Amino acid sequence: MLRTHSCGELNISNINQEVELSGWVQRSRDLGGMTFVDLRDRYGITQLVFNMETNATLCEQARKLGREYVITVKGVVAERSNKNLKMPTGEIEITVSTIEILNASKLPPFTIEDNTDGGDELRMKYRYLDLRRNPVKKNLELRHQLSMETRNYLNSLKFIEVETPYLIKSTPEGARDFVVPSRMNAGEFYALPQSPQTFKQLLMISGYDRYFQIVRCFRDEDLRADRQPEFTQIDCEMSFVTQEDILNTFEGLTKHLFKAIKGVDIKELPRITYADAMKYYGSDKPDIRFDMKFVELNDVCQHKGFGVFDNAELVVGINAKGCSEYTRKQMDELTDFVKKPQIGATGMIYLRYNTDGSLKSSVDKFFTPEDLKLWAEKFNAQPGDLILVLAGKTEKTQKALCELRLEMGNRMGLRNPDTYAPLWVVDFPLLEWDEDTNRFYAKHHPFTSPKPEDLALLETNLHAVRANAYDMVINGVEVGGGSIRIHNKDLQKRMFSVLGFSDEDAQIQFGFLMNAFEFGAPPHGGIAFGFDRLCSLFGGSESIRDFIAFPKNNAGRDVMIDSPAAISQVQLDELCLKIVKGNS
Ligand code: AMO
Repeated sequence: MLRTHSCGELNISNINQEVELSGWVQRSRDLGGMTFVDLRDRYGITQLVFNMETNATLCEQARKLGREYVITVKGVVAERSNKNLKMPTGEIEITVSTIEILNASKLPPFTIEDNTDGGDELRMKYRYLDLRRNPVKKNLELRHQLSMETRNYLNSLKFIEVETPYLIKSTPEGARDFVVPSRMNAGEFYALPQSPQTFKQLLMISGYDRYFQIVRCFRDEDLRADRQPEFTQIDCEMSFVTQEDILNTFEGLTKHLFKAIKGVDIKELPRITYADAMKYYGSDKPDIRFDMKFVELNDVCQHKGFGVFDNAELVVGINAKGCSEYTRKQMDELTDFVKKPQIGATGMIYLRYNTDGSLKSSVDKFFTPEDLKLWAEKFNAQPGDLILVLAGKTEKTQKALCELRLEMGNRMGLRNPDTYAPLWVVDFPLLEWDEDTNRFYAKHHPFTSPKPEDLALLETNLHAVRANAYDMVINGVEVGGGSIRIHNKDLQKRMFSVLGFSDEDAQIQFGFLMNAFEFGAPPHGGIAFGFDRLCSLFGGSESIRDFIAFPKNNAGRDVMIDSPAAISQVQLDELCLKIVKGNS
């Protein structure tokens, strides 16, 4: 090896040792008589020193080193006169005797520093240089640690990691598929898996009763900070289990990861039903680091002559404790916030519970002080509190108030990234009605089992059927989701028919699974965690891109390798594909 040590390990105990180090030139400082070079590798930085008086030729050589040159040096460890106690190697330096340039480097397009001058696009184009930077390296190290801890934990519980195929079949449910044309089967296409869902279920039928896989998944959907077209899941499945067993097992994994990696003890996860999550937080992924639950006001504020409330399906508010003295400007900011098109409220009503005990609302002319007192009582409000109210159609109003709640959480400093508040959201509806296509979709996926006690509702009230489905939510992020599965062919057929499949279509698309159910399918269920999301949460960042070595940008492009890209006519011909240029 071209090194006896790394650049991060030498210290005072190595004084006078002969060593050889290799790495990249972080920077060099020419102080006339002396030249200092900071040599960097994955493990740290070590200072090299060259003395004009003792070895002028070598010193000249060192002066010519550019940033990011790759060099190897031999020398002796010496104690520094000017110590830097912030660095592990800050008490020593290497008095260099030989230097070899292994490779020169062009000047990098941005500085390889913690606070780089490179913009996002540039850093992505030269991602291999960006990856040299400490913050990015730390993120990948965290990712590695999380995957190792996950594997160790699941292995200790007898889970077996099995790889499932990446070239599978396109199915009409879920997000859009990425498809891959088949050369050997002209006119036919593989699809890349959105998740290994059906394969893990087949593995249960095969008897591998505890499976996991840290696995890449592919979804052609609109991208956001927490979504990538290819992302990684910790995908798990178990046989002979109830929902309770799954929740306990993966609560265990979550606690283990927080303890092992963050040193944080997580208490038992609270469980909240989907219905309550919507009612109290307006979201199926509530951030419960802070309370500020929704309070419905219909019964105390309707039929008083205020049209906005009287015509609303839902009048609902939150209590921002201690905010009664918000200025006019702050209130205007909040009103503008809720009126943003992506939030969609038409306006906001407020009630100040002043510190002198008086009540002042933005709709005083419609309500008596006694009316307002009733509102305040609903919230258990105290002098000093500020009540913010929205009204309108139920779903839209809940969604808008959820955003306002999160905004207030931010403004009031209640969303500390170092505080972790995981919970389970349970009892999701089995189905979701879509107005545009006029049909039901599976809320989780078509393999999710209805709750046994709701089975009869499958014939009478499809909207009301609840599923044995659950999500794990941490700090307002859906980090994982799963369900107990259907393992009976007839029920699965019924589910497909509810989703609008003819028996024949269901057989063509999913016959392999339904047929397998007839060969001794055990009861089973599972979960998948969004691994990138878990990493970003542990790393205290909102963007999962920071935790992926080579991510795509928001247009789904890899700007470094310039993909996606056209393919040659020869390839198109081999695949029997013809590009038809449309107007769009
Ligand atoms: P689901 O579709 O809920 O379930 O996905 C599981 C978890 O994967 C993460 N996730 C994503 N992360 C980054 N980018 C994306 N585009 C993306 N999409 C999803 C989320 C989510 O909670 N087969 C089922 C699981 C099961 O039932 O066992 C599934 O895939 O954190």
